[in-house]
Amino acid sequence: MSEINAHRGAIFHFKDDATLQTAAEKYEYFGDGLLIIEDGIVKAVGPADALMGQLPKDVSPVPHGAGLIMPGFLDAHCHAPQPGAIAGYGEELLEWLHGYIFPEEAHFADPAYAEVGNAFFLDELLRNGTTTAAMYSSSHMLATDNLFEQAYARNMRVIAGKTLMDQDAPEGTLDNAQSAYDDSKTLIEKWHGKGRLQYGVTPRFLPACSPEEMRAAVKIKQEFPDVYVQTHLSENIHEVDLVRRLYPESLDYLDAYDQYGILGEKTLFGHCIHLSDREFERMAETGSVACWCPDSNSFLGSGIFDLVRAKRYGVNIALATDLCASTTFSMLEVLCEGYKVTALRAETKLSPFQGFYLVTLGTAKALSLDTAIGNFSPGKEADFIVLDLSATPLLRYRMARAKSLQDTLFVLMMLGNDRVVDKTYLAGRLAMSKS
Ligand code: GUN
Ligand code: ZN
Repeated sequence: MSEINAHRGAIFHFKDDATLQTAAEKYEYFGDGLLIIEDGIVKAVGPADALMGQLPKDVSPVPHGAGLIMPGFLDAHCHAPQPGAIAGYGEELLEWLHGYIFPEEAHFADPAYAEVGNAFFLDELLRNGTTTAAMYSSSHMLATDNLFEQAYARNMRVIAGKTLMDQDAPEGTLDNAQSAYDDSKTLIEKWHGKGRLQYGVTPRFLPACSPEEMRAAVKIKQEFPDVYVQTHLSENIHEVDLVRRLYPESLDYLDAYDQYGILGEKTLFGHCIHLSDREFERMAETGSVACWCPDSNSFLGSGIFDLVRAKRYGVNIALATDLCASTTFSMLEVLCEGYKVTALRAETKLSPFQGFYLVTLGTAKALSLDTAIGNFSPGKEADFIVLDLSATPLLRYRMARAKSLQDTLFVLMMLGNDRVVDKTYLAGRLAMSKS
């Protein structure tokens, strides 16, 4: 017997054929909408009065009152073992990694520490309405195994991988090319494709990976071509300089990765700030994904991702926190920072439709996950959130004066945070509730 349930409230999502360019026309909004779910999969979405007749007699919809129902948010790049080092004062990338991040990640060698940290990280994502994330674990096999186990127990759609790093970091965080290969392979065989989990081979970035380590990563990707690859690219000017010294023969940072043969549609590059035209062109040509991390980029003083140029070159763009170089888990706060940095450049500001497209269907498309998630098309997994648009006094006051859907969404994008997310559902089941 299949299980049918339904949710009633205002519903907002993007149509299948929406793009960043057409987001403002390709959405659906139902003031009194109904979302019908069968066995965790979307069956129908539309105006409640038109769809109520499709419900079996014994099913009454969960009423969400004035709540706004939308697809769960995606975060295309984040680090599970870093919340214990969030908000470390005063440094740019390389000093920040050595001063705050590596010492914290070293604690994940202890499985008990990792279990607590992983649980905190996943629950905090859900509390913030993020239902899918591509995440780095630490470099430790057991910590990574536990991260998968806990994501599986929660039935989250997650891409994750053991961080590969064999140089230029403290001993307790390093692996070696052999264990990088062996551990990744073991974890792929155990977790890739189980439930809603997928593996991402995760060489941290070129300064932390010897050529042997990179070749181990490449070998794994060749043996398991449908896994993801995730790494960092061109985040900080001193990092770019360092890579230039490590790879003097390469045209640029991206070319050094390219020489290893790891560019492609399932390769996720965090940051991509200081890229040349050639690099943008090559990213687009190979379908590689640029993960835009505006909050992290501001926090570490890394620079401003050139959204306009990335769009012009046709690069696949995903949105991300880069926790814990961001100061928030909230994709709404990431959107707020994204708007502010596009405003600094004063070219084309990030519109609310583009913003909500990016945190849902847009990033799902960039991550090649849009056949499964990202909107409420029938057949997709019913990952969704219910937002309380009057969660704070300021929101309530300002929302009462909202003049249009665009205005409502923009206010949400500027003033929203974890408090706005009232409920989070994974594959149709309640996974987090504040009320
Ligand atoms: N580059 C290499 N590792 C990291 C990391 O953990 N965070 C960020 N922001 N950049 C990195
Ligand atoms: Zn990162």
